[in-house]
Amino acid sequence: MLDTDSHGAPIEGAVALVTGGNRGFGRAMVQELLNRGAAKVYATSRSSHSPHDARIIPLELDVTDDRSVATAAKTAADVSIIVNNAGVTLGTPVLHAPLADIRIELETNLFGIIRVTRAFAPALGRHPRSAVVNVLSVLSWVAFGSGYEISKSAAQSATNSMRMTLREQGTTVTALHVAYMDTDMAADVKAPKADPRDVARQTAEAIVTGAYEILADDTTRAVKSQLSGSLTALYTQLAA
Ligand SMILES: NC(=O)c1ccc[n+]([C@@H]2O[C@H](COP(=O)([O-])OP(=O)(O)OC[C@H]3O[C@@H](n4cnc5c(N)ncnc54)[C@H](OP(=O)(O)O)[C@@H]3O)[C@@H](O)[C@H]2O)c1
Repeated sequence: MLDTDSHGAPIEGAVALVTGGNRGFGRAMVQELLNRGAAKVYATSRSSHSPHDARIIPLELDVTDDRSVATAAKTAADVSIIVNNAGVTLGTPVLHAPLADIRIELETNLFGIIRVTRAFAPALGRHPRSAVVNVLSVLSWVAFGSGYEISKSAAQSATNSMRMTLREQGTTVTALHVAYMDTDMAADVKAPKADPRDVARQTAEAIVTGAYEILADDTTRAVKSQLSGSLTALYTQLAA
């Protein structure tokens, strides 16, 4: 389901960067961008890696580290597409977990997105059309009790602010909402999981069409559609 301002960014021939592009959803996103003709994709990781394709440029990046982000922005100054995918979940009950652990989730999932987007905004602005995708979650809207949900909810608000701010320079900012995806992060989850390749296809489509939001699976679409209704009904259903 796409909600578009009809000013997408081209992928064909473009240079993109995917944070956490060496595994999980990030890796699927890198491949999808290449499938659609991207000239080059920087795939970042906190450790060194050796991609299988010459069009994938490995780049070391820790989104919680100002200096690391500044260095990456200098190296990858030719990008017109950024996918802010890097994320962590530490299982942090809001009322009991050490605040230091919740801060790590915020540093990565919220401030990481802000840090990277700030650093790359000038590079994006050098292209007539450019794009930022922030990988959020259905948990931007509903919470089961952990710091992760706080980080995704705050990142959604940051995404809305970035959209308003970067619009003038021709950068479309898109929020990707998804429930479970079949990656390391959800390895212990028994519930149905989306195929990251399918979510990557939807994300690439949103980049070229300029969609503001991607609702990637049935769970996400159902939750979003119920937000104007009774919270009691929604949480009763989620708890079932
Ligand atoms: N899997 C799900 O069910 C699900 C559902 C909704 C949303 N999401 C979101 O989807 C995104 C991708 O997650 P995933 O499912 O692919 O999880 P994953 O397999 O655990 O991968 C997490 C990625 O984030 C990177 N990362 C973590 N901390 C980082 C840091 N400080 N700096 C730079 N990179 C960092 C990792 O890179 P390295 O370890 O290589 O450095 C890795 O590539 C996350 O934002 C996650 O919150 C996932």
